[in-house]
Amino acid sequence: MACRKNVVAIDGPAASGKSTVAALVAERLGATYVNTGNMYRAVTLAALRRFGDAGLSEEDVVGMLGDIELEYTNVGDGAFALKLDGEDVGMEIRSPEVAKFVSKVAAMPAVREWLVKKQRAFADEGTIVMEGRDIGTVVFPDAKRKFFLSASPEVRAKRRLAQAGECVDGATISSVAKEIAERDKRDMERPVSPLKKADDAIAVDTSDMTIDEVVDFIADNVEGGAT
Ligand code: CDP
Repeated sequence: MACRKNVVAIDGPAASGKSTVAALVAERLGATYVNTGNMYRAVTLAALRRFGDAGLSEEDVVGMLGDIELEYTNVGDGAFALKLDGEDVGMEIRSPEVAKFVSKVAAMPAVREWLVKKQRAFADEGTIVMEGRDIGTVVFPDAKRKFFLSASPEVRAKRRLAQAGECVDGATISSVAKEIAERDKRDMERPVSPLKKADDAIAVDTSDMTIDEVVDFIADNVEGGAT
């Protein structure tokens, strides 16, 4: 398989620091940053708006895909705009309601097929740093460099609570830890494109690392490495 010299894949479980790190690595490499989790979140938001949380049958969600327009635009410096039918949904996709249902929607094979096609098209635009769950295994198995980030459950819960826009009234470290553990379990156990380290991905345990240390580790590896 040809090596995609222009793709850096970063995968890992919820709140492992992927988004922050991937955006900064992209900035340093002058690359386009692509956050695939937000695309799954936007499809989930569209489905919740149409069908409510009691619905969300695979048939309904898949039937909806032809009627929605999802536009992910890079605005530079690791920032992007995500529009659902022309409306900016960047904030709304971080709601607890979306977090609760996203792994159910992401397990639907037709949803994955629809989004993976969009994700692969980004590689035509130059160097990209793409983050998610299946980038190194399914979306770009031929990526130039692959990284798999992890962190202890407690560290991840603390990071999620500290994340701007994600604070939920009354949320505690243990309630957040429970939510991300449930989502990781569903992501790891689904039959299609489960969350999994690619055999050739470099594992990085970020529990005791600062953001800058992780960014340096990844960017140095990409810049310094041969092909
Ligand atoms: O930001 P956080 O780590 O909470 O998760 P995210 O990257 O926003 O992803 C939200 C959800 O989308 C995940 O829990 C997965 O269910 C799904 N996802 C996926 O299935 N495949 C991807 N490539 C990215 C996300």
